[in-house]
Amino acid sequence: MTRFASSAADLRSSEIRDLMSLATAPGMISFAGGMPGNELFPLEAIDRICYTLTEKEKQTALQYAPTAGLPQLLESLSDYLERKGLPVGSNRLMITTGSLQAIHILAKAFIDPGDPVLVEAPSFIGALSAFRAFRANLIPVPLKGDGMDTEALKKRLDTTLPSPKFLYYTPNFHNPAGIIYSRKVKQEMMLLLKGRDIPVIEDDAYNELYFCEEDLPEMQLMKTVDPEGIDVCYTGSFSKILGPGLRLGWMLAPEEIYGKCELIKQSIDACSPGISQVIADKFIRQGDVYDYTAAIRKEYKKRGEAMTAALEASLPSCVTFGKPRGGFYIWLRLPEGSDSTAVLKRAIEKGTVFVTGKTFDPDGVKNDFLRVSFCNTDVEAIRRGVPLIAEAIREVCCP
Ligand SMILES: Cc1ncc(COP(=O)(O)O)c(C=O)c1O
Repeated sequence: MTRFASSAADLRSSEIRDLMSLATAPGMISFAGGMPGNELFPLEAIDRICYTLTEKEKQTALQYAPTAGLPQLLESLSDYLERKGLPVGSNRLMITTGSLQAIHILAKAFIDPGDPVLVEAPSFIGALSAFRAFRANLIPVPLKGDGMDTEALKKRLDTTLPSPKFLYYTPNFHNPAGIIYSRKVKQEMMLLLKGRDIPVIEDDAYNELYFCEEDLPEMQLMKTVDPEGIDVCYTGSFSKILGPGLRLGWMLAPEEIYGKCELIKQSIDACSPGISQVIADKFIRQGDVYDYTAAIRKEYKKRGEAMTAALEASLPSCVTFGKPRGGFYIWLRLPEGSDSTAVLKRAIEKGTVFVTGKTFDPDGVKNDFLRVSFCNTDVEAIRRGVPLIAEAIREVCCP
């Protein structure tokens, strides 16, 4: 028998992954993926950028880059982040291979086997998997409509021993819960965390995908406050503002944490792809990122509204959800104790697919929710597919 390391031996394909492999039949309408629509990528801008590269830029693109990132991208990205009020000058910025790598590096920097880490319930599955890979003890803090339940957070902080190694949270357009954290909740979290030596990983992969400018004040980041006594490590991504195929993200972290993370990155992949970094730099520097994000905000808003209307028209009244204010997802609450895996099986028979609730539960148990994405499906397919999900829910949860 092959003698894998125990951390690898524990890795298993999930039941959901196996179910998903049934979901590739032709004509299947998928609300499962959390990826941008193919038809929305900025192909003209990418063509223009690629066809106008100088010989020197092409050489840079094909060469190894510094571990921290290409200097020109660090410069243009710094400018882009400073416009959002992020304290680039007093922190260090690192380009990573997707923001998932930034999360993975931070997990490696902080987690010894068995260490408690505070996560949201529900939480982004990619981060949970990274923390599990380092054998963290996941301590769930339930989410409410405006962010973490801060009473529950206080209880966890006061009772978890040893003290949690970090807190991971997603402030904007949560994956899967779709919510924005209110300023009030973030302020309460900062008060609770102050002086406890518990760093925060603030994962802001969906920052640009707001539907209403009025939400911008509410979206103020912990990292823009950069409160004294709390090390906030901010992560972001090019996946939602350019394309996940570039595999580019970033981390903005205090000097000491950054230094350790740079060493870790060196041992993983030495640098993120130079060719992607050259393209991303031009995309920001030439201003394309601003036009492009304005355009996709409009399109995702249209899709989010179409999905909201279709859900309101077809769901039984025992299912509730919050209207999306940005991002990619709507999180449906089924009647208590329902099994969204059973709903998924029925939905696949009807020709549509979504992601079950327990996928995002740190304990892998709570299954009376499900996530539908509106990012990778056009309005017409949303209108056809949503009633099929509603039918499956009705048949399984309220026959
Ligand atoms: C909340 C969240 N964080 C991080 C990521 C990782 O994105 P990437 O590694 O493509 O930058 C995702 C991807 O879906 C996400 O939903």
